[in-house]
Amino acid sequence: MVKSMRQSLEIPHFGFSDEVSMLQLKDLRHSINGYLKRQHKEDKTDLPQKLSYMPFLVKAFSLALTKYPLLNAQYVPGKPGNDGRTTAGHLVYRPDHNIGIAMDTPGGLVVPNIPRVQHKSVLDIAQDLQRLQKLAQNGQLPPDAFQNTTITMSNIGNIGGRNLSPVIPPDTVCIVAIGRSQVLPRIRDLHDGKFEVIRDEIATVSFSADHRVVDGASVARFFVDWKNTLENPGRFIMELK
Ligand code: COA
Repeated sequence: MVKSMRQSLEIPHFGFSDEVSMLQLKDLRHSINGYLKRQHKEDKTDLPQKLSYMPFLVKAFSLALTKYPLLNAQYVPGKPGNDGRTTAGHLVYRPDHNIGIAMDTPGGLVVPNIPRVQHKSVLDIAQDLQRLQKLAQNGQLPPDAFQNTTITMSNIGNIGGRNLSPVIPPDTVCIVAIGRSQVLPRIRDLHDGKFEVIRDEIATVSFSADHRVVDGASVARFFVDWKNTLENPGRFIMELK
């Protein structure tokens, strides 16, 4: 931890934060969990008992990464040459979305990854997440669970808190933290000069990114794509193959 934090602090970070409405996702999750509950009641399934927000957040993140692969890249810094000059650094694009998930465990913070998320369904991700959580809680994660992470997500929402300043893990260029969603009033534009106050459910998300590789506009574009899926979860069906 100390070594990787020291490496992380050598990365010139910048932050980006905004909010996402979780209302649509909450309804979708409610409907799916109702279905899972009925299936379990009738003993018809080996599917998970229920899905948390996380598998949806992770899948939507991967869909956005497909459009903005720079955030999944690795920056390899230059090295000092024999002539005393440092060679130029370079970027390595990585086709697999091996998404690291920060996990709070009795042994402290661990960050295993869900590999190749771009090929997985929401259900596959839920099953991987539950398996990793179980291993993490028992301190039994194998070393390969930590290898080749390409980007990281940290959801603090099961505990509490809204805004974080997450630290970018080494060999990656971006991390996002998700805060606890809250019921809050928001104003909806009715487009005829009128507005209405609605009851919304809002989560704040906070990015840190490596400014040698990405700029604020790139993170903002990526965020808008991710947010669009979370606020219009019908896209999960549109993207089914
Ligand atoms: N807003 C509101 N509720 C949330 C939420 C959010 N952002 N995230 C999770 N929850 C809720 C879940 O929906 C679930 O509620 P339910 O039982 O009513 O369905 C409850 O919190 C517990 O969720 P959990 O079982 O922990 O699953 P998860 O898939 O949401 O989260 C982890 C999995 C591994 C991310 C989480 O357990 C964890 O360890 N988070 C801490 C990460 C951390 O320490 N980050 C800091 C790094 S410095």
